[in-house]
Amino acid sequence: MAVVTTIRDLVAFKQRGERFSMITAYDFPSMRLVAATPIPVVLVGDSLGNNVLGYETTLPVTMDEMLHHARAVARGATDQLLVGDLPFNAYHASDSQAINNAGRFLKNGMHAVKLEGGGKAIPIAACIAQCGIPVMGHLGLTPQWVNAFGGFKVQGKTEDAAERIIEDAHRLEEAGAFSIVLEGVPRELAAAITQQLSIPTIGIGAGPDCDGQVLVWHDLLGINRGPLPKFAKPYGQIGDATIDALRRFAADVAAGAFPDDEHSYHADLTGLNATPHAARDSQALQRKL
Ligand code: KIV
Repeated sequence: MAVVTTIRDLVAFKQRGERFSMITAYDFPSMRLVAATPIPVVLVGDSLGNNVLGYETTLPVTMDEMLHHARAVARGATDQLLVGDLPFNAYHASDSQAINNAGRFLKNGMHAVKLEGGGKAIPIAACIAQCGIPVMGHLGLTPQWVNAFGGFKVQGKTEDAAERIIEDAHRLEEAGAFSIVLEGVPRELAAAITQQLSIPTIGIGAGPDCDGQVLVWHDLLGINRGPLPKFAKPYGQIGDATIDALRRFAADVAAGAFPDDEHSYHADLTGLNATPHAARDSQALQRKL
């Protein structure tokens, strides 16, 4: 059996100066593809909402939706560290709500959870970590805060704002977080946090100086639904390749070129009235005429 990547491995990567990657995944077939690569960490992100379920933002995503997809990802994983993303409104109400929902992720195949924000989210992270559930923090342009930020805007651009994020990062580390995603912040700020913390930072739109980098599945493969954010790099154009394949299928069906004999089953049914479909239609037409 494969040895699963652990939260201690991530800290060791940082200590050895080895950069690592994380990718989002939401289902069994995509997880099977990730498992064929050296990517050690997989996030079942609440970006499920906008990338898979067709919501405008991540806010409508529920715990039940997350768990449905987390289970499918877990079934396709081999040795990856799997992180379940606590969705909006699934951890702020009370410690018991947070512990219960974080625990549900572990009961459904995840090894750790992620939650967004500083402030009130930090004692919640501590509470979850104290129950033996590894917690990943997430600071900067946290998408669940889109309404509070007045849009998807880069965070930490002034010295005051940057200092608040640095402070939150230290408090998350003290709370027991094993790593922190830094999203949509100036690279100078991400570099400072990465240098000051002993736990790894994982950047997305945070420049090249983080210990790890994460991309969203759909952005990386060119199947995103809108314009790509500045920080995302498409490493493939699977969307175009998929449309091309679908069009060729439809054209072959329309032309009667698929399925051909090679893709058909055969049996000796000589006693059966097995006149082909097209011939039967033309015989029926002849009779009508
Ligand atoms: O849900 C998600 O995909 C995320 C990543 C952007 C880090 O939180």
